[in-house]
Amino acid sequence: MAAPQRKPARSVRLGAIQETLLIPLYGRAVESRKPEAMLRDQAAEQMVAAIDYDFARFDGGPSLIGTVLRTHLFDHWVRAFLTEHPDGTVVEIGTGLNTRYERVDNGRAHWFELDLPDVIELRRTFFADTSRRRMLAASVLDGGWTAAPLATGGPYFLAAEAVLAYLPEKDVRHAIDLLAERFPEALLALDTTGPGMVETQDSHDALSKVQARLRWNCPDPRLLEDWRPGSRLLASHTFTTLPTQVHDRLPAE
Ligand SMILES: C[S@@+](CC[C@H](N)C(=O)[O-])C[C@H]1O[C@@H](n2cnc3c(N)ncnc32)[C@H](O)[C@@H]1O
Repeated sequence: MAAPQRKPARSVRLGAIQETLLIPLYGRAVESRKPEAMLRDQAAEQMVAAIDYDFARFDGGPSLIGTVLRTHLFDHWVRAFLTEHPDGTVVEIGTGLNTRYERVDNGRAHWFELDLPDVIELRRTFFADTSRRRMLAASVLDGGWTAAPLATGGPYFLAAEAVLAYLPEKDVRHAIDLLAERFPEALLALDTTGPGMVETQDSHDALSKVQARLRWNCPDPRLLEDWRPGSRLLASHTFTTLPTQVHDRLPAE
């Protein structure tokens, strides 16, 4: 496990959507410090300590734990994929400062961590590329980034955690088309946001503290099957209907 290099506290200058990565980062750091934690994430703790930002603005609301539950579910899906395909390729789309590689890597898989250039610049101050792990600085909407992951030959697990809901629907459709065309057999994990959440986000405990706004309102993830005939929805969960294996790994309190 590669711990991030420690450097003096630094201020970050990120675009509006990019800033949202600090919410799940802080969520994992706060969770990691609990005596009974859903996950341990020393790297997140160190990054929060190293970044000069008012993280406390996100304290007190339910969102932090929500981000940890979500990442826990994505971890479960990636683990299941790597159990079946230990030499497979994982692509983190909109990786932010997520540390899934630190939690889930099996020592064999290929990992690509894609995000916008300012995020990758920040990410590079904490993590380094290796022969199996590479950062890619690009928008998911610009297909040029796909060459490197395509060179591994797959199979592919694409994880877009807390990313697509920030894009307008036409961009989400473009991203889904691009991913489906370049990685036709891939598994794609993503989260959707329903109309209630999009309408009330100005009073949301975490989103009300940042500029970025959710744009893609998706009442039912099954709609994606209509967007891409031939694709199949394999699983869909909410925080109250987590898979048994995920639920069983949660701390008692
Ligand atoms: C809420 S954060 C989630 C970060 C990470 N997936 C996690 O769960 O910790 C949203 C991320 O999506 C990234 N993002 C937004 N639009 C993007 C785009 N067009 N291409 C790639 N990444 C994008 C942002 O820069 C940010 O890192």
